[in-house]
Amino acid sequence: MSETVSLSLHGQVAVITIDNPPVNALSHSVRKGISDCLAEAAKDDNVKTVVLYCAGRTFIAGADIREFGKPPQSPSLREVLSQLDSFRKPIVAAIHGTALGGGLETALCCHYRVVNSDAKLGLPEVKLGLLPGSGGTQRLPRLIGAERALDMMIGGKPVDATTATAWGISDECTDDEILQAAMDFAKNKIDVEKLPRVSANKVADIEDDFFAAYRKKIAHRTRGFAAPERIVQCVEAAVSLSFEEGMRKERELFRLCRDSDQSASMRHLFFAERQVARVPDVPADTQVREIDNLAVIGAGTMGAGIALACLNAGLNVSLLDKDRQGLERGQATIEKLLSAAVSKGRQTATQMREQLSRLELIDDYQALADADLVIEAVFESMAIKEEVFSMLDKVCRDGAILASNTSTLDIDRIAAATSRPADVIGLHFFSPANIMKLLELVRGAETSAEVIATSMRFARQLSKIGVLVGNCFGFVGNRMLYGYGRENQFLLLEGAAPEHIDKVLTDWGMAMGPNAVGDLAGLDVGYKVRQERTDLPADSRYYRVADMLAEQGRYGQKTGRGIYLYTDGSRKPTTDPEVSDMIRQEAKRLGVEQREIGNDEIIERCIYALVLEGARILEEGFAQRASDIDVVWANGYGFPRFRGGPMFYADTIGLDKVDEAVCRFRERFGSQYWSASELLERLARDGGTFGNLANKE
Ligand code: 3HC
Ligand code: NAI
Repeated sequence: MSETVSLSLHGQVAVITIDNPPVNALSHSVRKGISDCLAEAAKDDNVKTVVLYCAGRTFIAGADIREFGKPPQSPSLREVLSQLDSFRKPIVAAIHGTALGGGLETALCCHYRVVNSDAKLGLPEVKLGLLPGSGGTQRLPRLIGAERALDMMIGGKPVDATTATAWGISDECTDDEILQAAMDFAKNKIDVEKLPRVSANKVADIEDDFFAAYRKKIAHRTRGFAAPERIVQCVEAAVSLSFEEGMRKERELFRLCRDSDQSASMRHLFFAERQVARVPDVPADTQVREIDNLAVIGAGTMGAGIALACLNAGLNVSLLDKDRQGLERGQATIEKLLSAAVSKGRQTATQMREQLSRLELIDDYQALADADLVIEAVFESMAIKEEVFSMLDKVCRDGAILASNTSTLDIDRIAAATSRPADVIGLHFFSPANIMKLLELVRGAETSAEVIATSMRFARQLSKIGVLVGNCFGFVGNRMLYGYGRENQFLLLEGAAPEHIDKVLTDWGMAMGPNAVGDLAGLDVGYKVRQERTDLPADSRYYRVADMLAEQGRYGQKTGRGIYLYTDGSRKPTTDPEVSDMIRQEAKRLGVEQREIGNDEIIERCIYALVLEGARILEEGFAQRASDIDVVWANGYGFPRFRGGPMFYADTIGLDKVDEAVCRFRERFGSQYWSASELLERLARDGGTFGNLANKE
């Protein structure tokens, strides 16, 4: 017994109750408590069966992630689970909410599992760079077969109660109150003579080439990431070795994962993504405004995507465009995306109809009088945005939030077009807006705490991660992207082939290479923005390759030609010798000497450019903490989660080493781009990290 676990007797059924809010993680006191309660229940002759139950909103959601990296405290989860596995009286796990990681592993050691119909069960350790380390890799394949177990452990996605029951993870699925249902099960449905034990099962037979084929299937999406391969090795052990030998293998590989930088990085992001919503001067009890009716102005690429994201979240959406054609195009885009979701089986035609019934097309600003939140996504022009906001100011009710999706314009100037700048905020979505998880909330000088708190909650309503950023050019994500893109551009001129740069960076873990991304986003987009900027370096090499391509109408995928060629409407990039020639000649004209460029140089220049700009952003106060920058890059720009985001990655490398490389690049390529960051230099000198900076806040 402990402060988090108690034992109570109900006739001959003993109930072990875990009460460790918020998610009943398996902290030390829980492990000790379960162990003591089991010992007590074992020796009490009145106890015939045991139910393992959790108070609060969920069954055990896993090991306590905060304990990783700290000295272990006995009993370990493995010890408790082995006590559970060898327990002689029947044990039923009563599962509601989520049984995740060590939580599901605990349940798998019980003889039976009864689940609530809305429960979810999973082994998501891979999302923390780990593998299930308390028998999950050995027990789950013994219960549901190698392939399903691998899919659950490598995808990390939980399954619902119906699936879990169909697959045999759960023995009964109920709509009734879970504790009562589990106690009834314990009393009436247990054959005490034949208690099932997962560890005694054998994994169902598989084809000879199963593992080779499985590795091939996951190779692309798991490149550079160690945990998935180790999970496969554990399941190989489950198939070919005894349970005890398999457990030893799992232990050995779990330790490698747990002690790796990759897992530290992913654990960092887990907590960073929860900390990001905290804003020191916006207290948790700040009043939040209700958002039921939402309007989107501009039905183009972004407007249609934003409208769809809001429809998916159950909101009512009015969509307005300057002309009928624009509206119809927006509506068609939304319908097309919804139909695609139906044909892929992600939702039903009835759900699609219900979603569309919440969409209203409007062409009159007067119809916005009842909107709680208006998101503007018209052309990227200050004059047009000012006009739209002054109109919104006239028609919207008091208390409505007026947001702009601008990616480059000054939120304060936009806010100044209204008489209520405190109600104005930037809500910077990423394309495709219905998919990308990141939402930058751009705080203007006068944006109120209430508007920030409401926008944070709105992000959650859309299942997105809101990150509060300051009002500077490019905000956080795109501002950093400039340095990263610039190094890519210089490397091209210096002789690195686009496919070489892209391969090096994707092998390193980026979701896509910068050249493939440019072609996807459209090279005309960045070109137009650069044309309008007056503050860019006077350097004829700066974004020269991208400018040349855009000037030749080589916009990327949409024109079939960008830096790569896309033949016959394919989205697969192929090398274009014409482009290689063009770059070579331009380098010659500009006096840039071409040379062999190594992989390390590509990584260091591109990634340290990000880190340096991130340091400046922190210094200037445009991001609240280094980990917020990591959240932006992991969720908006395909930065590998197993590297934790650019700032955490720099901490992992050591800021002295990063600074040393920055100094080296300054010497070689000039201080114009590699100028010192006082913050980076100080941390490097004092042996500090960006992470500790946040902890001292
Ligand atoms: N350990 C410690 N703290 C945890 C935790 C865990 N496993 N899971 C969640 N928390 C904390 C969060 O940090 C957050 O704290 P905060 O309020 O101070 O920010 C709080 O619990 C609530 O979490 P969420 O905001 O995420 O709440 P939600 O309701 O949105 O989600 C959840 C709940 C689905 C359980 C989600 O928190 C989650 O996915 N947790 C992680 C589950 C997981 O990865 N389990 C595996 C752990 S590793 C393991 O078990 C190893 C084993 O194999 C040996
Ligand atoms: P788009 O050109 O696809 O769509 C703009 C839409 O606004 C058009 O349908 C147009 O008819 C409409 N419009 C123009 N003036 C209007 C007015 N006065 N009133 C009502 N409707 C008007 O542009 P896109 O790409 O959707 O961009 C919109 C905004 O989102 C811009 O501010 C852009 O910078 C920003 N953004 C774009 C991203 C992208 O990847 N395309 C990413 C993030 C932000």
